Amino acid sequence: MAEDRSFIYLNNAATSWPKPPEVLAAVSESLSLPVFGSGRTTASQGEDCVTKARDALSGLLGVKTPGHVVFTQNATDSLNVLIQGFLKRHAGTCHVLTTALDHNSVLRPLHEYERQGRIRLTVLPFEDGRVSPGAVAEAITPMTRLMVMTHASNVLGTVQDIQAIGEVLHDHGACFVVDGAQAAGHVPINLESLPVDAYAFTGHKALLGIAGTGGFAIKDPEAIAPVRFGGTGTDSFSLLHPTGMPERFEAGTHNYPGLAGLAAGVSFILSLGIKRIMEKAGRQTAYLIRELEKEPNITIYHGNPDLPIIAFNIRDLPNDDVGFILARRYKVIGRTGLHCAPLVHQAIDGGAGCVRLSHSWFTTDEECRIAAGAVREIAQNADRSVSSA
Ligand SMILES: Cc1ncc(COP(=O)(O)O)c(C=O)c1O
Repeated sequence: MAEDRSFIYLNNAATSWPKPPEVLAAVSESLSLPVFGSGRTTASQGEDCVTKARDALSGLLGVKTPGHVVFTQNATDSLNVLIQGFLKRHAGTCHVLTTALDHNSVLRPLHEYERQGRIRLTVLPFEDGRVSPGAVAEAITPMTRLMVMTHASNVLGTVQDIQAIGEVLHDHGACFVVDGAQAAGHVPINLESLPVDAYAFTGHKALLGIAGTGGFAIKDPEAIAPVRFGGTGTDSFSLLHPTGMPERFEAGTHNYPGLAGLAAGVSFILSLGIKRIMEKAGRQTAYLIRELEKEPNITIYHGNPDLPIIAFNIRDLPNDDVGFILARRYKVIGRTGLHCAPLVHQAIDGGAGCVRLSHSWFTTDEECRIAAGAVREIAQNADRSVSSA
């Protein structure tokens, strides 16, 4: 079926579209063949898409041992497994750090454990879209055992200095879990050299796979207790779940078509090269921001984002209305509201939310031109109607 190009899709930070043809082909092909893989079939041929996806991810994230890449349902699921598993490993109340830039995928599990009295939680503020390593150092106490934070803000598009923050945490013996849902696929990542203990990723955003895929890479599996148990297709006589990697954290049947697509998405990115992806995204981001800045009644919440994410509001026009007009009149699809990151909005727009436009490798310069023109026209009309009121 031909791709529908009757609209301009700028909601890639929520979920990417379109997917590369290679991804669609891999998903479909995986459904057209019987599954081939460890311990669950007598088939002697076919594609082991799980191993292929593990290899691809370890290449992209700079993980030396592919077995230390674990697959889950999505980034949220990964963060739940990591946080819950860490707390299971540590008796007593521990002090945990996170940031006001974080997504509900981090904030909600941590607040739930705080509510249960299992952790003491400190939420660090940000300045100009970034959390400073100095603020992390100041917040650390002798009881601080864990920090969970995003690699890149899904609202402001700012990449965090996880190198410096990780060094501070490791100097104090604390564990560092990073939510890479927005960053993976957009920026170079070499976990081998980063002071990060576990890195959660999602398949359906910049990795260009389909929804229902994701996982995490982990350095020391012993630091996190397993929280899921079941069939692995290995060591089946044992009534206890295997402790080796990656089975330690994976139970049940994998999402084979999803992982086939994810492997193809990551291979697509690796063949283009992150540098090329970043250059194109950066050029289009700079253009969109330059255009929006021409309207005095548009507030852009970060004027120099590292990711292809532009968050803004038009004065006197609710963000939902802007999104509605963009979609209905101009066929430009973005996202409005709180973007699952309520504390960011408390800090930048008083909790009202904003419009977010997020482009991808597949966005053309012409689409950026039309989208910028549409936003500017809405802003000009809003200005006119306010001044004539
Ligand atoms: C920063 C951040 N973390 C986590 C998530 C959740 O990702 P997933 O849909 O894979 O659970 C998102 C996506 O909305 C995100 O932007």
